Amino acid sequence: MTSAEVRQSFLDFFRSKEHEIVESASLMPSSPNLLFTNAGMNQFVPYFLGDRPAPFKRAADTQKCIRAGGKHNDLEDVGFDTYHHTMFEMLGNWSFGDYFKKEALEWSWELLTKVWGMPAERLHATVYKPGAGDPAEFDQEAYDVWAAIYRAEGLDPEKQIHYGNKKDNFWMMGETGPCGPCSEVHIDLTPDGNGGHLVNAGTPWCIEIWNDVFMQFNATEDGRFVPLKAKHVDTGMGFERVAGIMATTDGFKDFTKAPSNYNADVFAPIFAKISEMSGKSYGRTMPEDRNNLSPEEMRDVVFRVLADHARALSCAIADGILPGNEGRNYVLRRILRRAIMFGRRLDLKPGFFTELVAPVVETLGGTFPELVERREVIEKVIRSEESAFDRTLDRGLQEFERIVARLG
Ligand code: GLY
Repeated sequence: MTSAEVRQSFLDFFRSKEHEIVESASLMPSSPNLLFTNAGMNQFVPYFLGDRPAPFKRAADTQKCIRAGGKHNDLEDVGFDTYHHTMFEMLGNWSFGDYFKKEALEWSWELLTKVWGMPAERLHATVYKPGAGDPAEFDQEAYDVWAAIYRAEGLDPEKQIHYGNKKDNFWMMGETGPCGPCSEVHIDLTPDGNGGHLVNAGTPWCIEIWNDVFMQFNATEDGRFVPLKAKHVDTGMGFERVAGIMATTDGFKDFTKAPSNYNADVFAPIFAKISEMSGKSYGRTMPEDRNNLSPEEMRDVVFRVLADHARALSCAIADGILPGNEGRNYVLRRILRRAIMFGRRLDLKPGFFTELVAPVVETLGGTFPELVERREVIEKVIRSEESAFDRTLDRGLQEFERIVARLG
């Protein structure tokens, strides 16, 4: 399946389950305690809290998210691994006081195994089991649904179901707001399929692909978890992860290659542009030691950083968030500067980062038309930021060389 087919089949599946397909919200968050929209559920917070009635009982979408500041911040990992992004699409489905755990988990299973053909025995589920001082109780209901699903597949629930405390299995958008226990699906991508013990071990060989959150509480500023008036479902699936897994395994036929989101075709035109500008090709290497990269590892880190950061900057600017000196604007400036610093490692010419807007628009413009509409503005803003930072870097370098010459 191509990336576009993965996205479309997710939406089609939930349309067939009577979900309203809605537009991605802007990356400019509607909640005041967020830097960026960081999850598909952000735009639905008033429905979860009961502040406004939901216009539909069920919804699904693909949501642009940025996790580069605040509670969910992946910036420093981007490039050094193959599965974190600053900007990514989150596929999600929601129930507003309608269906709950049974339907949510059974539909997740149906889409993953029956529609997409993921091997059942490679899928592991996690269930909330609170540690000392954690809110709520063991999620017996989710456990029972998973146990029935695995038994029906002839699999042993004890081997396929894992437990997590508040850190891994209780989802919160930020420090406050709607939240609840969650149940994740992880896929074992190890060559021999014996990687279940790697669940939540921080490796791409066994990785979370879908999170089903059961919204039951409102976390308040004084640290309480107040039960919500109704119970809701909020799910999130990493689109690039799923598309990357499908590409890497050739549709779940080949588990010998190292998994990487960047194998998804949604990154290919951006990589092609970086190759054209640098004369180098992406080699799919992974750093052995982050602090001591080989030239090949550094080249591939740079490819990943540039592709990711070009997508983040383009989407944020299209949504009216500009690089600047404070708050979310400063986070964007930092992402852009990180990209330029990494780009220099490939000897890319000044202005290279602006050139990456075109392949971002090519790959994402069909899904997020604001990229097409605001392409000129995006290029103008990036060009001006890029040239200002290039001048600063060059001045710094000249000064450094003068000092070295004086000392020598
Ligand atoms: N809101 C669900 C998630 O981000 O995982």
